[in-house]
Amino acid sequence: MQRQSLIIDCDPGVDDAVGLLLAFASPELDLLAVTTVAGNVSLERTTRNARILRQIAGREDVPVFAGAERPLRRDPADAGDFHGAEGLGGLETFEPDAPAAPEVAAHAIVEAVMSRPAGSVALAVMGPMTNLALALRAEPALAERLGPVVIMGGARSEGGNITASAEYNIWADPDAAAQVFASDCRITVLGLDATHQVRATADRIAAIQALPGFCARTAAALLRFSQDVERRIVGWDWAPLHDPCTIAWLLKPELFRAVPCRIEVETESDLTRGHTAVELRVDAASARHHWVAEADAQGVFDLIAERLERLP
Ligand code: BDR
Ligand code: CA
Repeated sequence: MQRQSLIIDCDPGVDDAVGLLLAFASPELDLLAVTTVAGNVSLERTTRNARILRQIAGREDVPVFAGAERPLRRDPADAGDFHGAEGLGGLETFEPDAPAAPEVAAHAIVEAVMSRPAGSVALAVMGPMTNLALALRAEPALAERLGPVVIMGGARSEGGNITASAEYNIWADPDAAAQVFASDCRITVLGLDATHQVRATADRIAAIQALPGFCARTAAALLRFSQDVERRIVGWDWAPLHDPCTIAWLLKPELFRAVPCRIEVETESDLTRGHTAVELRVDAASARHHWVAEADAQGVFDLIAERLERLP
């Protein structure tokens, strides 16, 4: 099997956590690193949470690198309302056995990508894009050298989830996102238009809960927490499954329909900060960005269930 080398940049976060478990369980992925960023909760917590998830999945072979403590030029955001104060919903957190690696995330990304063949390392970004922006600043040749970049962020027809026009990850560090989209990176974007289709409903959560293993039960608990939060704060009976879609796209792109586009990010207006302008009138052959318009929700949940069953 030809394995895809992958770095996951994340801010766990309940949905990041399910995405990490999906990746840890997938033999097609050669996980080079998990890098963390401040986003849903502080950097200290997102890094600890990534280490907890790798430990419960039995994947201490994957190094975790801590990254940016704050966005490029904004105050740090916090989504504790949606992810719990510790970032993992109602789960009991603990200090994991293995520490984070000593290098900083942006440096680890540059090292991993520049030391391997061009186009061979994929990057999945599940949080604010601060680490990738810093890595691109440190090594401008990185954009050309990276393989597929898949990002959870942005919104077009769905409107925003943190403001009327912005999705949380882009809003949290719009300057980083603007820089990444203006770079030469080839990016597939799973925004709210796609992830709002992938709904963790009571039935789908029950199917995961019924699987054997601690990790599956953990994933079910995280999804149930999200469902409760959405019910209470937004009024939906289901939770959108955002970040795991990046890993599902890498594993089974046929579950998604993407269209070529050009994305720019609003950084100056207070009103529309972090808005993603998704221009579909582009030349398909030369487009560097692809916007995911449709997702096969049941296919994504079946994939997650099939993979979680392999974890302890
Ligand atoms: C994104 O924001 C975060 O709260 C989630 O983890 C996800 O990455 C959804 O807008
Ligand atoms: Ca996230």
